[in-house]
Amino acid sequence: MEKLDRKNSYDRKWNMEHLREKYHVEDNVIPNHVADFDYPTPEFIFDQIKERCNFKSLSYFSVDEEFYDAFKFWYKEMKNIEIEKGWINYSYGVFFSMAAILNTKTNIGDSILINTPCYSPFVRVCLLNDRKPIMNKLILKNNKYELDLYQIEKDIIENNIKLFLFCNPLNPTGRLWTLEELNAIASICKKHNVILVSDEVHGDLVSYKEGFNTVLKTNEEYKNNVIVFSSATKAFNIGGMSSSYMISKNIDLLKELWSYQEKIWLGNSNVFGVEVMKAAYTQKGIEWSKEMSVHHNNMFELTKKFVEENDLPLKVLDLHAGFCVSVVVEKHLSELEKYKKEFIKNGLLVRFSNEFYDYDNFWFRIILSTDEKTIKEILERIKKVFKK
Ligand SMILES: Cc1ncc(COP(=O)(O)O)c(C=O)c1O
Repeated sequence: MEKLDRKNSYDRKWNMEHLREKYHVEDNVIPNHVADFDYPTPEFIFDQIKERCNFKSLSYFSVDEEFYDAFKFWYKEMKNIEIEKGWINYSYGVFFSMAAILNTKTNIGDSILINTPCYSPFVRVCLLNDRKPIMNKLILKNNKYELDLYQIEKDIIENNIKLFLFCNPLNPTGRLWTLEELNAIASICKKHNVILVSDEVHGDLVSYKEGFNTVLKTNEEYKNNVIVFSSATKAFNIGGMSSSYMISKNIDLLKELWSYQEKIWLGNSNVFGVEVMKAAYTQKGIEWSKEMSVHHNNMFELTKKFVEENDLPLKVLDLHAGFCVSVVVEKHLSELEKYKKEFIKNGLLVRFSNEFYDYDNFWFRIILSTDEKTIKEILERIKKVFKK
């Protein structure tokens, strides 16, 4: 994988002015805090955009059948499930969808269930919409995070929860949930009339053969309680396109969400947002996704080996999906802030467990979606921190 030089560009991960101001880093920093790819967006995505430009009109348009066919193909090939056109809503971003469902299915002041550790927008979207996030802790054991089903049900009852924002696979850590686990959660949700929102944005980098289960595969009896929010942004490095989708068998829920989009005047789709998803969810996209998974897995193995061979006080958690690995630091939790500063001093910008609302464990995340040379340099800098 060849790295794209984005230094001093306006790409958020690499804008030096922003990095210096926000994180007080020097020019030699390796930014490894944003979960995007350091290599270019695949060429077939650009080809589709160019082809659309050849039509010479970017005027108002309707989403065509090809868009829905691409989804049917992708979900069949990658997730082993037949989906229907009527189950799909276009959306402007996974977290736009989160805000939409908060505003349609809950009221100001309501409590919303989320797991921790979590990608910080899970908390922020609740707070910005005047909802109260209820943090249900995942339990770190046997080198991975586990669900606490008893506590989930208790939290739902005690906080009168109507919405559960869930991450599948989990960012951070890349934990894949089994169908059994998803059914157990969906069953609790149905029992207490809760909508289970499954953010599956990291699920496009795992094929079903390796164990990814969309929540759409849970038992038919839960179909009205589950909805998927996802996007091709992670797997194809197209975060700047602001395009995503929702899938559910609950057509009334989809209609309600669409009405909300219309109310805030986002009832039209973005012409390029539609095109990039059509380009991604193809045979070429499958090949790209497989190639990426192999590369990320190689970078993961390299990381594990380096930590072991250098006898660092670190433990690399299992990585089941995606490209973000968590590395546990075998030091006292009270030293976390000290180590955060040491990382910056050694020119490495990564995120630590407390930035994912996990205040019980001490780990940091490495984004593996870069070239081998950079991963090796990241590991050398980590070694410097811990070998002092
Ligand atoms: C778990 C998760 N959900 C969603 C997103 C992106 O959401 P959006 O489509 O709103 O950019 C990310 C980006 O890193 C993510 O990690």
